[in-house]
Amino acid sequence: MVEPSAEYTFQRTGHCSRNRAFLAAMTNKQSNEDGTLTQEEISWLTRRSRDGFGIITTAAAHVCELGKGWKGEMGVWSDNHGPGLKKLASGLKNDGSLNLVQIFHGGMKAPSELNSRIPVCPSEMLEKSTGELVARKLELEEIYELIEKFGDAAKRCEEAGFDGVEIHGAHSYLISQFLGLKTNRRSDEFGGSLENRFRFLKEIILNVRKKTSDKFLISVRISPKIGTIGISIEDSIEVSKMLCKMNIDMFHLSCWNAFEKLEDGQNLTALFRPFIPQSIAYISTGAIWSTDDARWLMQQGADFVGVARVAIAHPDWAKGLQDSRYNPKRQPFTRDELLEADLSPVFVDYMSQWKGFVSK
Ligand SMILES: Cc1cc2nc3c(=O)[nH]c(=O)nc-3n(C[C@H](O)[C@H](O)[C@H](O)COP(=O)(O)O)c2cc1C
Repeated sequence: MVEPSAEYTFQRTGHCSRNRAFLAAMTNKQSNEDGTLTQEEISWLTRRSRDGFGIITTAAAHVCELGKGWKGEMGVWSDNHGPGLKKLASGLKNDGSLNLVQIFHGGMKAPSELNSRIPVCPSEMLEKSTGELVARKLELEEIYELIEKFGDAAKRCEEAGFDGVEIHGAHSYLISQFLGLKTNRRSDEFGGSLENRFRFLKEIILNVRKKTSDKFLISVRISPKIGTIGISIEDSIEVSKMLCKMNIDMFHLSCWNAFEKLEDGQNLTALFRPFIPQSIAYISTGAIWSTDDARWLMQQGADFVGVARVAIAHPDWAKGLQDSRYNPKRQPFTRDELLEADLSPVFVDYMSQWKGFVSK
């Protein structure tokens, strides 16, 4: 069996990751109001590169000004973001990790309080009880403009020195709103059949490829199922097949709980494995904590072990994987423990909103 501490070489580009530890994207609220990076956000990520992660993903970063989902979010929509991105990319590279910026648009989850306009969605969305307009339908022209924005953002990331981007097609944001039957009821080329609902993501990948070099890595993250917006496991399997026919380097499944058993007793990671060719790296994420967990996930077929929460408190988690008995302390963590792990007070405050993570 391949161990989580083993190297991985990307078939298409030749990039080498020093191990299979993948830091999944984590929003941390530490960016400036205009989306430029702060030293706090740079320090939180470079610490995890210095401490051994193979691949580091940044927080979700909005590709256009009005796609912002929350306060303190990182932006990649303007050349003003360039200097901060450059500083982060060179810091991460010096410390030995491969580095991805997660690019996204909030769609109907980009609130009007932040963006001073009604949010947008593939189809109009109304509040069930009041009939109030929650999100307006995107015009066709706007969809094509947004596709260009994703490509422009990726170009900006490559120019800043990142190895690649992760296209965020998970967690009910704009791309998954296109995939979902409830949020996408369009009758043009972007709605209707699954092939049409996939078109937004497909065109984004093509646009990123067009605007970046052959060496640039592309990861795509999807959720296997989201009932609230109408994404089923069956559709997601078809999406994974369509994705893997494209020129992507990583397929990332966001499970939240990789140990969850499906009706037939199988788990999500194993379920998707047959549809991901060996030439594409398969990342699975959700509720992994110990070396035993990481080894189990790889036995289910993952090439990389994605982690989020454990890496907040344990920046050197990747190194721990060399010890087969490694099972680091679990939540709750004290404020001091988290400050010591290079979280700023702003990030610690945000983590206090995650049930049971920060001790009172
Ligand atoms: C504080 C926090 C922020 C997150 N922000 C993002 C994000 O920006 N983009 C994303 O795709 N997932 C985000 N996630 C989800 C994680 O990437 C991951 O999938 C999830 O936490 C499950 O993994 P874990 O059990 O190892 O924490 C976030 C999770 C946490 C805990």
